[in-house]
Amino acid sequence: MNEEQRKQQERTVEETLSADKKSSQAKDYSQYFQMTYQPPSLSTAKKRGKEDVFVHYDFEIPDAMKGIGKGKKFLIRTYGCQMNEHDSENMAGILLEMGFESTSHQDDADVILLNTCAIRENAENKVFGEIGNLKVMKRDNPGLVVGVCGCMSQEESVVNRILQKHPHVDLIFGTHNIHRLPELIQNALFSKEMIVEVWSKEGDIIENMPRARKGQFQGWVNIMYGCDKFCTYCIVPFTRGKERSRRPEDVIEEVRHLARNGYQEITLLGQNVNAYGKDLVDTEYRLADLLDAIRTIGISRVRFTTSHPWDFEDELIDVIAKGGNMMEHIHLPVQSGNNEVLKIMNRKYTREEYVELAKQIRYKIPHATLTTDIIVGYPNETEEQFQDTLTLVEEMAFDAAYTYVYSAREGTPAAAMEDNVPQTVKKERLQRLNEVVNRLSNESNQRMLGQVVEVLVEGESKKNPDVLMGRTRTNKLVNFTGSASMIGKLIHVEITDAKSWSLNGTVVQQVEVT
Ligand code: SAH
Ligand code: SF4
Ligand code: F3S
Repeated sequence: MNEEQRKQQERTVEETLSADKKSSQAKDYSQYFQMTYQPPSLSTAKKRGKEDVFVHYDFEIPDAMKGIGKGKKFLIRTYGCQMNEHDSENMAGILLEMGFESTSHQDDADVILLNTCAIRENAENKVFGEIGNLKVMKRDNPGLVVGVCGCMSQEESVVNRILQKHPHVDLIFGTHNIHRLPELIQNALFSKEMIVEVWSKEGDIIENMPRARKGQFQGWVNIMYGCDKFCTYCIVPFTRGKERSRRPEDVIEEVRHLARNGYQEITLLGQNVNAYGKDLVDTEYRLADLLDAIRTIGISRVRFTTSHPWDFEDELIDVIAKGGNMMEHIHLPVQSGNNEVLKIMNRKYTREEYVELAKQIRYKIPHATLTTDIIVGYPNETEEQFQDTLTLVEEMAFDAAYTYVYSAREGTPAAAMEDNVPQTVKKERLQRLNEVVNRLSNESNQRMLGQVVEVLVEGESKKNPDVLMGRTRTNKLVNFTGSASMIGKLIHVEITDAKSWSLNGTVVQQVEVT
């Protein structure tokens, strides 16, 4: 179906539904729908057009669709990054407005959505395993709607594999058409055919989708969508479209709203938040300006992720250095310590530039933690090139690092390269890297022994429900004994024990939050 046909279909549905607006009963609208088959295209997703991005404030679920979920339950399983977590909150918001209830038990669910991640092959394997498991459930409960969405849906190979091997999937939709969920779900409930609607070109920004936030005192705030960096190994620019920033006033209003509702911590989200504002044609407003504005809002903690070293401007360091509600933690993915590898990765900075930036950050924000992401085993990476990564990690003394073995993603330039590094060598490099990373994390944590730090209490510790866990301003995990009434509050904890991945402490006092 082309764009015009799709718009025509939307118009037909809208007319039909508005004629029947008074009814909130679930009805069979299937006769009005042309079954959607709009599969993804990576080559379309790669293109970057100059078209304007429009911002919509008029999202509405037609009244007639609001009753569709009555008596039915949904479950959304989320894989991947915070962006996906946040998208799932939007989907949950839409489904709740349609009358569905949320459940965490898959046996109770009438709709199961898998919000997927395509970043590495093992992420995709997990999802295909789950799709396989759902086949049995679907046999016992043919009325169950199984949907696949998120980044994997944007890949042609994934959609083809589902079409060929997993006909029990009822619905596939992508990252750009989440706002179409009411129609798509209705379609899926009443149709026997698989519905595939994946837009490969990003759409406009939809501001007012309903949202069911998971956190009661910690919230995600999207500041931009998409990525234009095209690192040669990465699928994200294909699955998330071009960089599109939200209007500053919309972001600020959302943060104010969260502050009014008692939120203690927000995390500003984007694939590359430092590029914030660069696509807004009528303003010079950048991330540093946005942070400076958010600094004055009564919210205790502000974080952001992820930063790309390329766009990291001095103004940004300066605004974080002002302290207050700006947290002293910077996640700055480096990927490799070797300049040739950085070049073929298309990272657009050198090892020396990265080191200089990190030095600036540490000079201006002395207590900041610096964390990173690293890929080992990029095609044809030599032992010497890998050694450069090891020496960079030692030199930077990262407080923590997420480390990955390179995974070829179909459609990316790196996937087309021949690769002479055996998988066993890649795995061995990962192990060697992890030894260094873990030792440095441990040393960083040991330095905190005896310090009294501010912690936001997040909940019970995963390992022991009698113990509470929270995070320091620098994003370090702390476990301590306390009462459940502390959850959601800022307290002071003295660090008594340090391990590689967490700290233990004793509560000193509760901080007065203004
Ligand atoms: N936008 C963020 C990263 C998002 S993906 C940034 O640029 O910093 C998170 C991490 O996954 C990346 O930093 C990278 O280290 C890793 N990653 C991305 N693609 C990968 C691939 N094909 N194989 C292995 N790791 C990958
Ligand atoms: Fe991927 Fe690079 Fe964009 Fe990060 S900046 S999402 S690694 S292409
Ligand atoms: Fe995965 Fe998509 Fe996020 S590929 S890491 S869920 S942007």
